[in-house]
Amino acid sequence: MTTKTTVAVAIDGPSGAGKSTIARVLASELGFVYVDTGALYRTVGLAALRRGADPHDAAAVESLLPELQVSLGYVEGSQRVFLNGEDVSDCIRTPEVSMAASAVSALPPVRRFLFDLQQDTARRQNVIMDGRDIGTVVLPFAQVKIFLTASAEDRAQRRFEELAAKGSSATYDEVLRDMKERDYNDSHRAAAPLRPAEDAVLVDTTGNTLEQSVELLKSLVTERLKG
Ligand code: DC
Repeated sequence: MTTKTTVAVAIDGPSGAGKSTIARVLASELGFVYVDTGALYRTVGLAALRRGADPHDAAAVESLLPELQVSLGYVEGSQRVFLNGEDVSDCIRTPEVSMAASAVSALPPVRRFLFDLQQDTARRQNVIMDGRDIGTVVLPFAQVKIFLTASAEDRAQRRFEELAAKGSSATYDEVLRDMKERDYNDSHRAAAPLRPAEDAVLVDTTGNTLEQSVELLKSLVTERLKG
């Protein structure tokens, strides 16, 4: 556990609730560093796929970890994630890697492997960190904790539009099915399941525009930091 002089805002919640978009805008307005921890699990998922390991196979994935160096960098204020020195920030965004990330994130050795990197990043600077267990496990001392959610249909629609804009051929039904499967995996796993911290503020963004959600969270965070 750290003694902190920096400020940490933890934003947890299921995929597609708008965490990353909202956190990125908020971080830039508050002058904090935005840390997307999902990118770290995606990177381990990518490594497993590249090496032909089944992302559900705990022994196979664990045996890869000593060969993996995962690190974060910032280019013009935006986060980049590196796997053994290679910038993999773009290739971790495919539906296949999403599913692999969800599988490897259920493995305790993977969670331990990424824990120090996340805590060290928050120790060095003011952060808005998003993920699934930031308020509960990684930064239990965060000054502000938010649990952001929205209906599965709303979240699938947003993710579908993002993927379509990138030229993906995934249909809405496929995106919704993957989303429900990941929700189930993320909240039913034994290791650090997705759940709100006791002291988190619950925010439901169903039906909100991005601007409305950003405004809502901004006033919440600034109020809490004042207090
Ligand atoms: O936020 P995301 O969709 O990029 O995350 C990818 C996967 O990683 C997701 O299925 C859950 C997992 N994850 C996690 O278990 N803990 C975190 N702090 C962040 C992500």
